[in-house]
Amino acid sequence: MEQPVREIPDSAAPDVAPGVTYDFMVVSNRLPVDRCVPGVDGNDDSGWRRSPGGLVTALAPMMTKTDGAWVGWHGAPDETVEPFSHGGMDLVPVQLSTDDVELYYEGFSNATLWPLYHDVIAPPEFHRTWWDSYRRVNARFAEAVIACAADGATVWVQDYQLQLVPRMLRKARPDLKIGFFNHIPFPPPEIFAQLPWRRAIIDGLLGADLVGFQRPSDAANFMRSARRFLGASVKRQQVHVKDKDGAVTHLARAQAFPISIDVEQISELAKRPDVIERAQQIRRDMGNPTTILLGVDRLDYTKGIRHRLKAFEELLADGTLDVGDATLIQVASPSRERVEQYRLLREEIEGTVGHINGTYDTLLNTAVRYLHHSYPVEEMVALYLASDVMLVTALRDGMNLVAKEYVTARTGEDGALVLSEFAGAADQLKQALLINPHDIDGLKAAIMTAVNLPKKEATRRMRSMRKQVLDHDVDQWSASFLAALKETVIRDDS
Ligand code: F6P
Repeated sequence: MEQPVREIPDSAAPDVAPGVTYDFMVVSNRLPVDRCVPGVDGNDDSGWRRSPGGLVTALAPMMTKTDGAWVGWHGAPDETVEPFSHGGMDLVPVQLSTDDVELYYEGFSNATLWPLYHDVIAPPEFHRTWWDSYRRVNARFAEAVIACAADGATVWVQDYQLQLVPRMLRKARPDLKIGFFNHIPFPPPEIFAQLPWRRAIIDGLLGADLVGFQRPSDAANFMRSARRFLGASVKRQQVHVKDKDGAVTHLARAQAFPISIDVEQISELAKRPDVIERAQQIRRDMGNPTTILLGVDRLDYTKGIRHRLKAFEELLADGTLDVGDATLIQVASPSRERVEQYRLLREEIEGTVGHINGTYDTLLNTAVRYLHHSYPVEEMVALYLASDVMLVTALRDGMNLVAKEYVTARTGEDGALVLSEFAGAADQLKQALLINPHDIDGLKAAIMTAVNLPKKEATRRMRSMRKQVLDHDVDQWSASFLAALKETVIRDDS
């Protein structure tokens, strides 16, 4: 049942003038802020707190520097909020009902598309009611853009929750320049084929002038699907998109733009005396172990947390590591907690951690420090500085910005990164210790190489990875996407 809409006063946030239009708009499922209860659980008094995930981390720096608007959901079901400004950004909230959250967000986005796009690590579910909701909600996001996009505005749609929006915008507003960026992988056609609505999704994305992906293989997968399921004729990753009468409406292009992080923010924090002191305090509080290993993830089955714990447990079991010398800190931030697969995962991970700690802890030492929390960026950087080895063992990941944050924070050019070859970041961080997380023996060997990495070798690797990230930060990512978007509109390479 549709729930009644609850209007709540929003005194903390200044309104945006009604009728205002924008030349640049970003659209994503979530706004960069979520509704929260002021003053509770570390929340400030504004009634808003930063929302989770790499997407927000990547786009917020750009949006604070432009005059554009950000359209998205504010994280509270059944609540209508007028457009407002926060943290230097104009925000245009889209309302989602309790039903929308269940069917469009938890259902189609996170129990159909998410597993389907991540190598079907968990089985995707296909429900027509979820799809109907996905279409309806995508139309609502499109309407919110249409209402406040200036003539000829550039609109940048983000991620898998909104794949129908480009086509909807194109239909209603052919004057717009439309970009789309997929933050997660795009599956090969052999897997994408399972989706009953595969044609509509491809058609939705082809409404954009430029469809951006994390890796070249994602862009290639998309174009292979366009060819296979829509019969599109693809030349040099471009399709001439036609209307019903066969007239070309625009040229849609697919290309990889690997996303990155706000290098300046992380570098500055890594040099701040209070953050450095906090890192030292973390080590002291843990009894100054020889080696601290660190995992930082949303609690998601794509992240390979089980595989990491298994490898660590076996290293303790066979005596290669000793709980007196080595501790694993696992930050697992709460995520999508009402989706069944995520509930099951949490139970499993927490059971495994309990088992490992019960078996290997001493009164002095804990094997795994498991933290089911989200932390502010200052604390994250302190954790990066406090840790000797970062473990990124994703089974599939669009990019993984944690890997890039870790190397950026290591201003001393030390520490080691164990990185899954199935994370997009592996394309750029080639000097990491690259692993296949399914190969537990290989993972154990890589962890031990990282733990024992000679200083000179660690510096050589870290220096090269840092250079890569420092030279390709998130500003460069957004600038290169937007430059390419501008170009595709005026160019026809046929
Ligand atoms: O990048 C993947 C992504 O789903 C983003 O779209 C999102 O902002 C982030 O992860 C966090 O996920 P959620 O919004 O479902 O909490």
